[in-house]
Amino acid sequence: MLTSAKDMLLKAHKEGYGVAHININNLEWIKAVLQEVEELKSPVILGVSEGAAKYMGGYRNVVAMVTELDKSFNISVPVAIHLDHGTYEGAKKALEAGFTSIMFDGSAYPFKENLEKTKEIVALCKAKGVSVEAEVGAIGGEEDGVIGAGEIADPEECRELASTGIDMFAAGIGNIHGKYPANWKGLDFEVLAEVQRVTNGLPLVLHGGSGIPEAMVKKAISLGVSKINVNTECQLAFAAAVRKYIEEGKDLQSKGFDPRKLLAPGVEAIKKVVREKITLFGSVNKA
Ligand code: G3H
Ligand code: ZN
Repeated sequence: MLTSAKDMLLKAHKEGYGVAHININNLEWIKAVLQEVEELKSPVILGVSEGAAKYMGGYRNVVAMVTELDKSFNISVPVAIHLDHGTYEGAKKALEAGFTSIMFDGSAYPFKENLEKTKEIVALCKAKGVSVEAEVGAIGGEEDGVIGAGEIADPEECRELASTGIDMFAAGIGNIHGKYPANWKGLDFEVLAEVQRVTNGLPLVLHGGSGIPEAMVKKAISLGVSKINVNTECQLAFAAAVRKYIEEGKDLQSKGFDPRKLLAPGVEAIKKVVREKITLFGSVNKA
């Protein structure tokens, strides 16, 4: 059932669990995630970066694929189609194409410009019942070709941005996109608690969810994180499973070269990561 992310996050925030934002990269990803969350009776947010949308044939095609699979699989759990790290123009195009949730990532702009542009996107999205995510403190690491500065969010800026009417808030607290370095210092829980205080209990978003120790994820949820974004762990698992299938020569067996057979181990690997994350975040049977 396609919906905005607003109600699922308010429920998660109230009941103290997290909703998984799983980035999708192609048809197989969408099928794997939808089938797994339906089995777990869990809400889910399908994250779509601008690069992934382009790869999948554009925003409208992504909406069409998710909408049709949602119907043909009889998906009963809440599913949001969420633009991830959207640019100002991308946010407007994705909204027009039928996305049910939009992140406008203005963290690279000077704060006042981030604030003004966020207000515009909020007004456009609210008119369509579409949820909105904003960000202060650019997340570090690399995501889909975008390098983040890795800033710690300024609580005063968080307070101002939260007052624009957004539904969820991403604050840089030392989290990083992609693999975490061995000398990573961990999440800044003091800043996280302060961000939650100044945003008056708005559901918070933890980007860079791949590779964060489970205890840290649980602590972040206890401090107000209601949406946790995961992409890299699914991509690594998919690649390793398909590589193993090929290295074992299974693609050389009869019809083993069929792309549906070739990709099948990767699909199962995605499902396994999704199941692990949803179990950790606590949203099983929370649909
Ligand atoms: O926006 C997407 C997420 O922040 C993905 O982060 O690839 O480190 O899991 P990750
Ligand atoms: Zn992110």
